[in-house]
Amino acid sequence: MTAQPSDSRAMPVTDLHPKPADLRNEVISGLRASPKTLPCKYFYDTEGSQLFDRICELEEYYPTRTEIGILESRSKDIARAIGEKAVIIELGSGSSIKTHVLLDALINPAAYVPIDISRDHLIDAAARIASRYADLPVWPVCADFNGQLELPEHGLDDHPHLIFFPGSTIGNFDQKGREVLLRKMAKICRGATRTESPGRLLIGIDLIKDRGRLERAYNDSSGVTAEFNLNLLQRINRELDANFNLDHFVHDAQFNVDDSRIEMHIESRTQQLVEIDGEEIQLGAGERICTELSHKFSIEGFAHLAEHSGWTLAESWTDPEDLFAVLLFETL
Ligand code: AVI
Repeated sequence: MTAQPSDSRAMPVTDLHPKPADLRNEVISGLRASPKTLPCKYFYDTEGSQLFDRICELEEYYPTRTEIGILESRSKDIARAIGEKAVIIELGSGSSIKTHVLLDALINPAAYVPIDISRDHLIDAAARIASRYADLPVWPVCADFNGQLELPEHGLDDHPHLIFFPGSTIGNFDQKGREVLLRKMAKICRGATRTESPGRLLIGIDLIKDRGRLERAYNDSSGVTAEFNLNLLQRINRELDANFNLDHFVHDAQFNVDDSRIEMHIESRTQQLVEIDGEEIQLGAGERICTELSHKFSIEGFAHLAEHSGWTLAESWTDPEDLFAVLLFETL
């Protein structure tokens, strides 16, 4: 599809009123658990989202540029495999330039449905797409894709559905979470009842590789990932009247070969007592809080788990170094 400049159009937003996440309860119960954890979804406040954008540009953090490289270099093959007049549904759409790469390549897409929990972010990004692709209907949905999902009623069932889920975000879910999400995606695609075509899923996955390369990506030399990780404590200070002293904590990210995942932690340097909204949390010297798991996959392993959740692998594309893969699945 050819990008065309035009004025941004008024877009009807389907607002599924996602409930604001319960930061206080999840933080306190995670820090009272043994071992301590904090949910990675809380990384992405305004500061955290800006830090994540900086991570994506780091030399050591190869996934973003490698995935864009695959989408650009294989765009014709991808467009051919997806076919004409697909409805593109993007989960956690954010402000990604990857969407532009995909839309530039596709043949007459029928509509673009970005789904994101952050209303302002969603509307800004949707307006940018609408002004760039003048003929493309854009139907934003404000929803938490971890909860119930419904697509807007705009005759979308007449067209094959393609779910776009780039960035290896699927790697931040545990095995159960991955299965649940993949099943939910297959269900959405099967909603396209008035077309013969299968539903499709275009997904980015980070591939298993040597420990050194992986650990450098999560322990960058400029310390941006450390800042991103520790911003979680800053956010808790800001929003929950807590008193974490950031000098008393360090960032740690290591590859767990057996579980094939980067495990990101915040480690307490000393024995200390922290107050969060009137609640006291004890931390021992060297005690760690797990903040993120980032699973790495083989193409075969991922295809196998997707098969259990309603998908069959149709195509796969990688970069010359086999760092990252973009996979196209069809509904079973
Ligand atoms: C969003 N997600 C896929 C990133 C990852 O690589 O797991 C988040 C991230 N954490 C540290 N660096 C990047």
